Amino acid sequence: MTATELRQKYLDFFRSKNHAVIRSASLLPENDATVLFNTAGMQPLVPYLLGEKHPGGARLASAQKCVRTDDIDEVGDETHHTFFEMMGNWSLGDYFKDESIAWSWELLTSPEWLNLDPKLLAVSVFEGDKDAPFDEESFNLWRSLGVPVERIAKLPKKNNWWGPAGATGPCGPDTEIFYWTGDINEVPSSFNDDHEKWVEIWNNVFMQYNKQADGSFELLSQQNVDTGLGLERVTAVLNHCDNYQTDLFKNIISKIEELSGKKYNDSNEIKKAMRVIADHVKASTMIIGDEKGVAPSNTDQGYIVRRLLRRAMRFARQLEINKTNWLKELAMAVINDYEKIYPELRTNENFVYLELDKEEEKFSRTLEKGLLEFNKLGGASIDGVSAFNLYQSYGFPLEITEELAKEKGMTVDKKGFDLELEKHQELSRTASAGKFKGGLADNSEETTKLHTAAHLLLAALRRVLGEGVTQKGSNITAERLRFDFSYPEKMTSEQVTEVEKLVNQAISDKLEVGCEELSLDEAKNTGAMGVFDSKYGEKVKVYTAGINNEESPSKWEGVFSREICGGPHVKNTGELGHFKIQKEESSSSGVRRIKAILE
Ligand code: ALA
Repeated sequence: MTATELRQKYLDFFRSKNHAVIRSASLLPENDATVLFNTAGMQPLVPYLLGEKHPGGARLASAQKCVRTDDIDEVGDETHHTFFEMMGNWSLGDYFKDESIAWSWELLTSPEWLNLDPKLLAVSVFEGDKDAPFDEESFNLWRSLGVPVERIAKLPKKNNWWGPAGATGPCGPDTEIFYWTGDINEVPSSFNDDHEKWVEIWNNVFMQYNKQADGSFELLSQQNVDTGLGLERVTAVLNHCDNYQTDLFKNIISKIEELSGKKYNDSNEIKKAMRVIADHVKASTMIIGDEKGVAPSNTDQGYIVRRLLRRAMRFARQLEINKTNWLKELAMAVINDYEKIYPELRTNENFVYLELDKEEEKFSRTLEKGLLEFNKLGGASIDGVSAFNLYQSYGFPLEITEELAKEKGMTVDKKGFDLELEKHQELSRTASAGKFKGGLADNSEETTKLHTAAHLLLAALRRVLGEGVTQKGSNITAERLRFDFSYPEKMTSEQVTEVEKLVNQAISDKLEVGCEELSLDEAKNTGAMGVFDSKYGEKVKVYTAGINNEESPSKWEGVFSREICGGPHVKNTGELGHFKIQKEESSSSGVRRIKAILE
């Protein structure tokens, strides 16, 4: 079974169970300053898990683009990835354990669907603790489906509890499904989750709690289901091959073989290098080519792209790939493979190619010299100043230096490097460890206000700079708004003042902010801004800031801003206070960035 088939079957199955199949959200979280990327299918759905109504209804399914950056340096083995796709189905206060478990079983074992042998499956359930009881219901449901007692493990929170993604948020006990990947004649009668041949393939989370800042668990207003099935892993498991031998990597690896004149199976070193290159270039293509695409840079998501590309280039040198613009050639293979499911890649391909060419040019100039410099270093450990010099002068991200050091049996003084880095304040605060740990934003009043301010800002920018301006991303904390938009040159101070004035006028006009659910066409026809070709299939939420005249046929008069958006927003712009732009600067080529606050 190919991944393409598995993805399709998964979505078709849940469509047949009355789920709305929604498009993957952007890799970049909406209004969430605490994570760089979406790391699970549920992340873009948090507001709905907490009780907001989703335009697609109460049953959803998707293939969600995800990026995890916790262990970039693990990529190179059989199973680790930065970019991956998570298949998932959700009940937003609709069905619960019963249907969720029965449907998982049906999809996996029914001859009509995946047709897995039930004898090769095992499950685990939550054993219970002070926060929540033993999940007897799930246990009994598995029993009723014929799973023998010896194949059901009762495990603690460490294993069978999922979430919250950050410090607070929706979470709950889960039940996990495992597949035996060893010899089918040696499948043990009882299940032990530590055995490496039992591989987890699917997680069903019963999200009924909301973890509070004080560590306590409050019951949510609704009982949700959140499931996750890693497409790369499950495809590999079903085919008894390594993840990089599935159709999700086949063409990319072939292209690397062609560029290098070597074969994937030639040696373990070659295999590792090809995996790193395949994973990292794919992830970079996905991030740059995302609907909120980000170019390589020295901060935030841009720095992740830079680290991935540079690590890929280092391994390409090992494979003796000498061709120029090879990153672009590989990205073409990625886009060919994924454009059907993620059409934004084709739309943004020129941006992707341009940025890859630039990054390749930039780093290949210093990579050689940096390696010479590295080879001069001796001793058992590389000190912070030397590691920082490699970073500063030759563009070596720390993990490249660490990896090179490891290959020579040396270590790196990471603390020393961090100290140097801090001293130079080269990177924004966010590139340091804390930001990568994950976590979901709160919907505090301040962020809600800034979220509405972002809509006013976009509308004002389009009035002052022209209709060509579109949003390229936003990032909101309780303190400030950061807003990226397309515009080719620096704004003049007059333009900045004019935009501020317009936003403050909209605030003092005390415009009502209202939400309507419209079809995409209706939204488009009424001039709403936003992403039209992706996300939710049927209805979308449109937020309007204007004068609400219930009597008039079009309802809204004096519309200042109108955007497709998940919310939440304030009820009236009068709540916002005074809007102030603190900074206007370049973000990446063709993209400007504004930092603004409400005082
Ligand atoms: N959110 C759950 C996971 O990521 C399903 O495994």
